[in-house]
Amino acid sequence: MSNSQNNSYVADILVVDDSYENLLLLRNLLTKQGYKVRPASSGQDALDAVEQFKPDLILLDVKMPGIDGFGVCKMLKKKYETESIPIIFVTSLVNPKDVAKGLGLGAVDYISKPIMKEEVVAKVSNHLELKMLRDNLEEIVSKRTKALFESEHRYIKSQKELRALVENMQAVREEEQRRIARDIHDELGQILTAINIDVSWIEEMLEEDRNEISDKAQEVSELVTKAIGKVQKISSELRPTLLDDLGITAAIEWQINKFQNRTGIRCHFVCRPAELHLTNKPSTEIYRIFQETMTNVARHAEATEVEITLTKSDESVVLEVKDNGRGITDEEISNSRSIGLVGIRERAYSLHGDLKINGEPGKGSCVMVTFPTGSDT
Ligand SMILES: Nc1ncnc2c1ncn2[C@@H]1O[C@H](COP(=O)(O)OP(=O)(O)O)[C@@H](O)[C@H]1O
Ligand SMILES: [Mg+2]
Repeated sequence: MSNSQNNSYVADILVVDDSYENLLLLRNLLTKQGYKVRPASSGQDALDAVEQFKPDLILLDVKMPGIDGFGVCKMLKKKYETESIPIIFVTSLVNPKDVAKGLGLGAVDYISKPIMKEEVVAKVSNHLELKMLRDNLEEIVSKRTKALFESEHRYIKSQKELRALVENMQAVREEEQRRIARDIHDELGQILTAINIDVSWIEEMLEEDRNEISDKAQEVSELVTKAIGKVQKISSELRPTLLDDLGITAAIEWQINKFQNRTGIRCHFVCRPAELHLTNKPSTEIYRIFQETMTNVARHAEATEVEITLTKSDESVVLEVKDNGRGITDEEISNSRSIGLVGIRERAYSLHGDLKINGEPGKGSCVMVTFPTGSDT
């Protein structure tokens, strides 16, 4: 089968032999098959020819004056650029030991002299095909590796961007909540208080016999008092002023108090040192993590008790919330739809910290956030 007619690529074969007749014979034979043939009449010529242009296959005579076939083979196999060129020895040495030596040096095959045309044509064609397949495979592998590397790179980059986005969104949200809480508390709260004072004044100015109006005024006053209470509740839930004014310990104590009253679940809080100070960012993050964790306890844990520990040492700040409920499962922990937990994890990462969640069936769950005290700046 003519190789060159199958596709546009013409294989380049280097034929090395010190005998002019052999070179001619092989060249005519292979050229007829459609290959491009380059002759070399010595080992050194062969090495020079390879240097000029890397052939697809080498037919290499073994016995030659100067560098013999084995020597040429050794040299080519030593070099990264030439080690993959398939070499077929063409030799009158039919001793199995010599054959083994040639194959041991890295040759792919051998052809014995005097040559048989059919054997030469078949072997050359087979090994060129093998080489082509190997080259294709290498190309595919290298393309795939490159694509894989690029997509991993893109993935890491987009993950980083996503993380930065989440952090930014949380910061923006926090700032917004702080502003809304202040506006509601200050402006609305003040107006309502003023109304309340006015209504009380009207009530006092009314004569005795105008009971109905007086009752109405009383009702309005009660409604306004309720509204003031609601305003305080909404604004403190948006952003407890305690957090900004008195710090994380006071805010957690306040939250625990509310939690116990609402749920009836008993809480024990240990804070070490008792007066623990954190700057704005870690204080906000820890508070929000604590809020989400306690909401989860109320919603999912079926617990009767919660132990909360907040500690700060020179190295790290640790918040631990342990309940005695049903115990969170591994599936719940790793589920990417557990958005509350994802939020907790992101907040922990934004402090360069670490999150550990574990649950034991029937015994309870534990959420532990640790971050370096260095993030507290
Ligand atoms: N303290 C807990 N005890 C038992 N299960 C929990 C606890 N905290 C969380 N879970 C489980 O983990 C899931 C994921 O929590 P989360 O991401 O906060 O989502 P959500 O509270 O919106 O359901 C919850 O739906 C619940 O099944
Ligand atoms: Mg939740």
